[in-house]
Amino acid sequence: MKGRESGMPDEEFWNSFFATDGAVERLLGSNGVQGDLLEFGCGYGTFTIPAARRTTGIVTALDIEPEMVEGLRNKANECRLRNIRPQLRDFVANGTGLDSASQAHAMVFNLLHLEHPVALLREAHRVLQRGGVLSVIHWRSDIPTPRGPSLDIRPSPEQCRAWLTEAGFGRITDVDLEKFCPFHYGLVATR
Ligand SMILES: C[S@@+](CC[C@H](N)C(=O)[O-])C[C@H]1O[C@@H](n2cnc3c(N)ncnc32)[C@H](O)[C@@H]1O
Repeated sequence: MKGRESGMPDEEFWNSFFATDGAVERLLGSNGVQGDLLEFGCGYGTFTIPAARRTTGIVTALDIEPEMVEGLRNKANECRLRNIRPQLRDFVANGTGLDSASQAHAMVFNLLHLEHPVALLREAHRVLQRGGVLSVIHWRSDIPTPRGPSLDIRPSPEQCRAWLTEAGFGRITDVDLEKFCPFHYGLVATR
């Protein structure tokens, strides 16, 4: 089942909200990811491409929309990034299909307003290795934003922290994205 209010606007408009290189470096760490990375709901691949450049292993990028998956496949080919595996998959209905403890990092970006956030975070927790990191970004609700889900379903950082804790994550820390994505906040948490 596609998450509520998770459709995408025009790609150029979407990308205008993010200085992705700086944001991804902050979220993945300056050394990048040593191992495999999973992205829930890759959309246009806005964050997938810069993440793949900083990941030594395979980047599995899941989306329910065939045109998003196909578009990312084309971009990965154009950028000659051979470590991206775009996959058409409904992770709400079917999970990720990845082995337990197989991933070094998981990205959940602009998605936690879906219906069952803790179920998704539990699946992320399952596939992450011990010590693996989950990164989250989402639209802020403390300032006006030019886009983003309805305010009544838009989670605050405090709400995300509570869900992350419920799903079993620890060491939850804020990531300052002000310089790169002024309409967003960031969090990282450890399995
Ligand atoms: C708001 S977009 C965010 C895209 C990307 N994470 C970003 O921040 O640029 C959410 C994406 O999740 C996908 N999505 C929503 N529900 C899904 C599901 N159940 N399984 C797989 N993908 C899903 C949508 O098709 C969409 O591309």
